[in-house]
Amino acid sequence: MKNGVDAEQQSTRAGTTNETASPARRWQKYAQISGWGMYVPHQVVPNERFVELGLDTSNEWIATRTGIERRRVVGDHEATSDMAVRAAKDALRVADMHPNELDLILIATCTPDHIMPSTAALVQDRLGAKNAGAMDLNAACAGFVYALSTGVSYIESGRAKNVLVVGADELSTHLDWKDRSTCVLFGDGAGAVVLHASDEPGVMATTMGSDGSGAGLLTIKAGSRNRQHGARHKNNGKNGTNGAPAMSDDYYLRMNGPQVFRWATQMMARAAEKVITSSGLTVGQVDLFIPHQANARILETTARRLGVPIEKVFSNLKDYGNTSAASIPIALCEAIQSGRVKAGDNLVLASFGAGLTWAALAMRWGVAVDMQVSRWKPLGRGVEERVAAVRSVSRRLGWRVRGEIDKRFRKDDDGK
Ligand code: COA
Repeated sequence: MKNGVDAEQQSTRAGTTNETASPARRWQKYAQISGWGMYVPHQVVPNERFVELGLDTSNEWIATRTGIERRRVVGDHEATSDMAVRAAKDALRVADMHPNELDLILIATCTPDHIMPSTAALVQDRLGAKNAGAMDLNAACAGFVYALSTGVSYIESGRAKNVLVVGADELSTHLDWKDRSTCVLFGDGAGAVVLHASDEPGVMATTMGSDGSGAGLLTIKAGSRNRQHGARHKNNGKNGTNGAPAMSDDYYLRMNGPQVFRWATQMMARAAEKVITSSGLTVGQVDLFIPHQANARILETTARRLGVPIEKVFSNLKDYGNTSAASIPIALCEAIQSGRVKAGDNLVLASFGAGLTWAALAMRWGVAVDMQVSRWKPLGRGVEERVAAVRSVSRRLGWRVRGEIDKRFRKDDDGK
C-alpha cells in the first residue's frame, strides 16, 4: 500500500479443512454470525426539517445528491449505550444465547457515553454479561468492520467462543445544525451481531487499513490536544476555572466532503476486491454487497468500480442517513429481514471513515434466517433482563457501601 498502513488480517480460509488434529485444532475454528439486532431512535427528521430550520437547502438537493430522505435522532435521555443495549439484546435473543456465555463485548463507536469508562463496560453491566471482557474501538464509520475483524480473530485463535460486536453512534450530538454540508448527512442508531465459533465457514477474509495523513478531512477535534489549545486561547494561558474542557467549535463534526467522496469510492472498492480475492471468490460469486451507507453516489460508484451489479448492493440510506459505526450492522439486519440473505450466500461488507480508516470482510452466511425463537424464550429473556438489572443495582450499591466502610473504619490504603 502506498499510503497508510494496510493490516491484512487473514488469508484465504475458504477451502481449508478443519480436520487437523489437536492441539492445532483450536486454531481451526471459523467465526459465524449467529445473532443480529438493531435499534434506531423514534425521532424521525425528514429533509424538509432543515428548510424549516432556515438552512439554504432543499429536500430535492439532499435526496438527489446523497440519497437520504430522513434520519433518526436520539431523544434527550438517550445515549450511545442505550441504543447499543437494545440492539445487543435482540442479537442475543436471535442467537438464543445467555449473556453469561459471552467472552467478549466489542463496541465500535466514536461517540461514547463518556471518555471513560468505556461504553462497552456500561453495556456489559446492563446485559449482566458477567463473564465477558469489554472494550470500545474507535475507527469512526469503519469501526464495526474493524470490531468484527477483531472478534473474528479472538474466535479463530481459540481465545473466545462467543463475541458480541456492536456498532453504535449518535453523531447528531456533534452536528452543527447550521452547516448544511454536514448536518443533512448523519443519523443515530445501533446494530449488533453475535459471533460464534463454528466448524463451518464463516468469515473467510478480512482486511483493514488506515492513513492518518488524511486525519484533517473528517474530524471532531475535541480531545486532550484541543482542550489545551482551547483553554490557552480562551483563558489567556490559564486552564478553565473549574478545569473543564473548553466547549467550543471543536465538538462539531467538520468535513471536506468532496475529498472524502473521491477517496471513499476508491478505497471501498479496493478493500472489497481484496477480501473477495483472499477468500477465493470471484466478484460474480458475491451474492450481496453491504457497503457503509454514506452517500448513494458513493455506493453506485463503488459498485461500478468493483463490477458488482447495483441489484446486489444493499442500501437503506434513504431512511437512516449515515449512522457511522452502526450503518453496516443496521443494513445487515434489514437485509436479513427483507429476505436478501440466505444460508450459503457470500456476503461482502466494506466500510470507510475518519482516520482515515477502511475495512472489508467476506463471509459465507451460515445460519438459516427464518429460525423461530420458541414461545417461552422471550419470557425467559425478560426474566434474565430483570435479573441483570437487579444485579447491576446491587453491585453499584455494594461499591457505595464498601466506600463508606473504607471511609469510616479503614485508615490505610492496605486496609489495616
Ligand atoms: N444543500 C444545498 N446545497 C449544498 C448542501 C446542501 N445540504 N451542501 C452543500 N451544498 C452546496 C455547496 O455549498 C456547494 O455550493 P457552491 O457551489 O455554491 O460552493 C455545492 O452544493 C456543491 O458542493 P459540493 O461539496 O461539491 O457537493 P457534492 O456534490 O460533493 O456533495 C457531499 C457534498 C457532502 C454530499 C458529498 O461530497 C459527500 O457525500 N461526501 C462524502 C461525505 C461522507 O461520506 N462522509 C462520511 C464519511 S464516513
